[in-house]
Amino acid sequence: MKIQNWEGVALIIGTGDIGNCLSDYLKFISPKLDVITCGRDLRNQNSIFLDLEDEDSFKAFETHLSLLSKPLRLVFNTSGFLHSNYIKPEKRLSHLKRSNIIKNFTINSIAPILIAKSIEKYIKPELFFSFSSLSARVGSISDNKIGGWYSYRASKAAQNQLLKTLSIEWRRKFPLSVVTLLHPGTCDTKLSKPYQSSVPKDKLFTTETATKYLVNIISEQKPSDTGKFIAWDRSVIPW
Ligand SMILES: NC(=O)c1ccc[n+]([C@@H]2O[C@H](COP(=O)([O-])OP(=O)(O)OC[C@H]3O[C@@H](n4cnc5c(N)ncnc54)[C@H](OP(=O)(O)O)[C@@H]3O)[C@@H](O)[C@H]2O)c1
Repeated sequence: MKIQNWEGVALIIGTGDIGNCLSDYLKFISPKLDVITCGRDLRNQNSIFLDLEDEDSFKAFETHLSLLSKPLRLVFNTSGFLHSNYIKPEKRLSHLKRSNIIKNFTINSIAPILIAKSIEKYIKPELFFSFSSLSARVGSISDNKIGGWYSYRASKAAQNQLLKTLSIEWRRKFPLSVVTLLHPGTCDTKLSKPYQSSVPKDKLFTTETATKYLVNIISEQKPSDTGKFIAWDRSVIPW
């Protein structure tokens, strides 16, 4: 069934550039979905506060989920971390710091699987259910030709393994579920801004373009597609 006809609740985790664009687009194309944004920057009433680095925040998030009156149909994690004012992706081994590695893993690997744990009891086995999370092509170990960005790469690779494992467990528990890791392409967002100079203009997507590619992919998936790492152009990325 096309995403336009899905009925129930969609949770968009992460209120960044891709996350906000995705929430707006889903509200526009899927009027039967209640789209709820979950993150630290709440723009409207249909939002739940969630700090992915805070255990108590996950507990409060679960309490909110227990109050939902419609079934959960779609959860899409768009959160992620690459850099901050104090932390930059490592160019070489000497740049590695324990605290920076932990920050990347907390948001890019541990948070997505804890989101899955929090939502699990609200999935209805008799309904089609889509769980997607934004990974990144640089998380592919076999595609790593140029090195660098140790923590970001490794944390996305860890996310891939955690959600691949999840897809196997949920295939048994929820035969109508699909778990997908997605690479959005290089998009013009806060996260990529400092690293766009080497990207050709026609390869730098707007968030609107990336969102349409991603929604088309999840809209066409079947349960047999679960456990894949897919790029914006539908190509399967090797682990
Ligand atoms: N843009 C690209 O070219 C590109 C390419 C490949 C993959 N990706 C992936 O796509 C995803 C979305 O990135 P984006 O480009 O849209 O970047 P973005 O605008 O920086 O969005 C990332 C969001 O993650 C949220 N986040 C980080 N830590 C959090 C926390 N502790 N609790 C709650 N939310 C938290 C941030 O929230 P705050 O605003 O509250 O900090 C931010 O809004 C990321 O996973 C990224 O790795 C992006």
